[in-house]
Amino acid sequence: MGNKLLNKDIQAYVNANLKTDLHSLLLKKSPFSEVSMHEIVQQIKGKQVAEKKFPFLLQDGIVFPPQLNLEQSSSEKTALYKSEILQGKKFIDLTSGFGIDAWYLSQNFEDITLIEQNAELLEIVEHNWGVLGKKARFINRRLEDFLEENQEIFDVIYLDPARRDQNKNKVFLLEDLSPNILEIKEKLLSISNQVVIKLSPLIDLKYLVSVLPNIFRIDIIALKNDVKEVVVFLSNKNIPEITCNCVNLESGEPSFTFKFGEEEGVHSEYAEPEKFIYIPNNTILKAGVFNLISEKFSVKKLHPNTHLYTSAEKKTDFPGRCFEMEMIDSKNIKKKTQFNIISKNYPLKPEEIKKKYGLKDGGEQYLIFTQSKKGKIILKSV
Ligand SMILES: C[S@@+](CC[C@H](N)C(=O)[O-])C[C@H]1O[C@@H](n2cnc3c(N)ncnc32)[C@H](O)[C@@H]1O
Repeated sequence: MGNKLLNKDIQAYVNANLKTDLHSLLLKKSPFSEVSMHEIVQQIKGKQVAEKKFPFLLQDGIVFPPQLNLEQSSSEKTALYKSEILQGKKFIDLTSGFGIDAWYLSQNFEDITLIEQNAELLEIVEHNWGVLGKKARFINRRLEDFLEENQEIFDVIYLDPARRDQNKNKVFLLEDLSPNILEIKEKLLSISNQVVIKLSPLIDLKYLVSVLPNIFRIDIIALKNDVKEVVVFLSNKNIPEITCNCVNLESGEPSFTFKFGEEEGVHSEYAEPEKFIYIPNNTILKAGVFNLISEKFSVKKLHPNTHLYTSAEKKTDFPGRCFEMEMIDSKNIKKKTQFNIISKNYPLKPEEIKKKYGLKDGGEQYLIFTQSKKGKIILKSV
């Protein structure tokens, strides 16, 4: 792994260059004969990423892996959320990677095992966990080979599969992941009652339920309204219903829980805008429960294709944003005023609206351009 990176002078150089432009640094010659500039820049990059994604690793003696492994790691905040759900005696992470998920998710377990096929990466994780004083078994193997020989039973098995190809295709199938969950699911369920799998936010929930019949829980996890993960929980017990949780971390918004399939057969009521307008958060949009939230929160929809809702009384538990608004005529929009512009189911994009009405971006006020059942409308926050 190269403990030479931990040399005091090299660490001082890394710390002194945390804000330096890394491209220009890469063009320079390393001031240290024992490490290349590339290796130094990897450490700087690691600290920069750690500051945002996993600040618990900003300590002396921690070594960072190449950028791809940093990018593949979960963030501390989503990992912490998952850690609160899981507990037991024996925990195994079959796709350790840089071990961020494993670090948090294993905190309520006594016996921890990490599997990773990338030897150098696992060596770094083992070193870092040693620095931080946490014990685990670190096994450098393909997880398929490990599962072949394994005789142990685990309380929780965790997997965060890697994308097989690194292109950014939007179509997302389990077969495109490494490992292929469909090939190992029976084996996993034969050695644990709870298999937890982190998947991309792009994955289709109906597809997931159709190919993984043992799902009993799905969590859609967003951080400040940016959907980061879809996490599925599998069990070998016969569970008749799938519980779905829509969680928007650091938003102050309540979570929304429903049973998979509950949306079917529920209808929205429609209305013209009343005093309060609601924009559901992105976990709700991902879950596609457009009629269910109308029913559960007694809010009416503005239009079948507009995912905006309204009510006369304020619903403080709605999973999304709530605005007090009034309808205005486009003639009454003053030029050069500052607005946050939202366009939903409206022919013009915010940029085009801004240009058309000569508006400035930002400020405290909101303008929503949308459609109700009666036609195009403009709403202004009061
Ligand atoms: C997305 S990363 C995991 C990141 C990790 N959850 C974290 O928070 O740091 C997936 C990891 O799984 C490993 N992996 C993929 N397929 C594997 C296999 N068949 N056997 C063992 N490890 C595998 C990859 O090498 C990669 O490091």
